[in-house]
Amino acid sequence: MARDLTEQGPAHVAIIMDGNGRWAQMRGRPRLFGHHAGARRVREIVEACPDHGVKYLTIFAFSTENWKRTQAEVAGLMKLFRRYIEREAQDLLRNGVRVRFIGDRVRLDDRLVQLMDDLELMTADNDRVHLTVAINYGGRDEVARATRRLAHDVAQGKLDPREVNDETLPRYLDTCMLPDPDLVIRTSGEARISNFLLWQSAYSEYEFVDTLWPDFTRDEFARVLGGFATRDRRFGAVRAG
Ligand code: IPE
Ligand code: IPE
Ligand code: MG
Repeated sequence: MARDLTEQGPAHVAIIMDGNGRWAQMRGRPRLFGHHAGARRVREIVEACPDHGVKYLTIFAFSTENWKRTQAEVAGLMKLFRRYIEREAQDLLRNGVRVRFIGDRVRLDDRLVQLMDDLELMTADNDRVHLTVAINYGGRDEVARATRRLAHDVAQGKLDPREVNDETLPRYLDTCMLPDPDLVIRTSGEARISNFLLWQSAYSEYEFVDTLWPDFTRDEFARVLGGFATRDRRFGAVRAG
């Protein structure tokens, strides 16, 4: 029987960390200043997870559409990701965080991919919090890449077309090792999902908060998680009694 998540709080929280650019612009600073401030928030939220029973945290760091930004912003973000991994790796390891990355690595710089691979390997035995970082991630791109791999297995005779269904297809997604998110939070007041976890969030609860990501504190995170507990998740069924 499915466990009653409404009473236990969300096991998997996914966050669309939005609003870094506006946060910087409001201060008359370049957008990258906001991205650096946003990166500093991540640690606080990751560390708050065990206190609330959140075992899985998935964060959207860079979308397949974010390449449309200026070359300077994209290069600055890629450098920030590299620096962040280098700087945080030891603490993540010590704090029991298992880090994984989702998204298409093909378009990423080799140095970044190497750091991502190393961090995944280094933290593979951790189990306190499972942090998944989406870089060059797009839900449509993920489903397309999964379908390509699935089609390949069908062509090779490893998968019977009659067995393609909503249980076999997600095994080909980048998130095959994760449960579906119970709660998706988006900061900065935009009420859209911008290509994040399209398949996985079919029955997720959504929370859109006005706070810009660099201002999103541990306390606000706790408040949003508290609100989740009051929701009546029905998954298409009718509540008994
Ligand atoms: C989110 O902040 C971070 C990334 C998309 C990389 P934005 O950079 O989108 O900030 P706004 O939405 O322009 O304020
Ligand atoms: C979504 O934010 C992607 C990330 C937070 C990494 P965007 O700022 O790119 O989304 P749109 O353009 O407002 O839809
Ligand atoms: Mg944005």
